[in-house]
Amino acid sequence: MPFRASFAARSPAPCAHRRTLPGMTDHPARRETPDPAPAGSPAAHPADEDGARAFRELLRGLRVWDTELPSFDPAAAPDDPLPLFRQWLREAAEAGVTEPHTMTLATADAAGAPSVRTLMLHDADERGWHFASHRGSRKGRELRARPRAALGFYWPAVGRQVRVCGPVTAAGPEESAADLHHRSTGALAAALVGRQSEVLGSVEELARASEAAWERARREPEAPVPSWTLYVLHPEEVEFFQGDAQRRHVRLNYRREGGRWVRELLWP
Ligand SMILES: Cc1cc2nc3c(=O)[nH]c(=O)nc-3n(C[C@H](O)[C@H](O)[C@H](O)COP(=O)(O)O)c2cc1C
Repeated sequence: MPFRASFAARSPAPCAHRRTLPGMTDHPARRETPDPAPAGSPAAHPADEDGARAFRELLRGLRVWDTELPSFDPAAAPDDPLPLFRQWLREAAEAGVTEPHTMTLATADAAGAPSVRTLMLHDADERGWHFASHRGSRKGRELRARPRAALGFYWPAVGRQVRVCGPVTAAGPEESAADLHHRSTGALAAALVGRQSEVLGSVEELARASEAAWERARREPEAPVPSWTLYVLHPEEVEFFQGDAQRRHVRLNYRREGGRWVRELLWP
């Protein structure tokens, strides 16, 4: 993988580096002069520079927490994070957040390199937070190598974020199949296509596979998809973040300690 090797050599900690870039802070004052090109970067075409400047201006002009936000009293929060999570998801849906049940799933490979993607939440109960995917996908392979993950939810209309971290277990084939067969025909068809995260030869190849999968999903609603796996993340930490227009964000962290939940506030 020469690309991966050279990227790692150039930028060993891309996220840490990006945190210090100008323009990444919270709405800095507008600048009249553009930022100089980073040292060592190739000379840019004037049209490219205009585009880059316009892009930076766009980012700097975008706002967050620019709407009336609900208040959150951490002193009134329940002992257990689950009812609060369910309440916040319901309130996000009621506030008009589209797809409030979608979340970011972070995993890491055997060497510790992280990766993220969006997934749908299938349930949250006393066992944990449930999601499903193909066992052979990148995330599936990473979860096999390192069975721990983090989930991130962001609901902009209410300025709320939730983070859930902990070990992950894979459910057995029966529970995984039952979860899939309760879902839509489209979900079954997508699962039947399979080969998730493998390199695809052409869009025509996908179109053919998808057409066959839809046809089978309609004809056989219980069609088995052996690689499809239900995963459960067992929470060890659940953090609730309530954004505030004055930037006095409330962060309430639940940490499992010796079989009970400890609650603590965090500096924003
Ligand atoms: C809104 C949304 C919901 C998604 N839900 C799922 C899901 O529930 N399961 C899944 O395997 N992929 C889902 N995906 C696709 C994943 O984001 C991802 O592309 C795919 O799982 C492959 O990830 P991987 O290569 O990291 O394993 C969803 C994508 C979006 C945008």
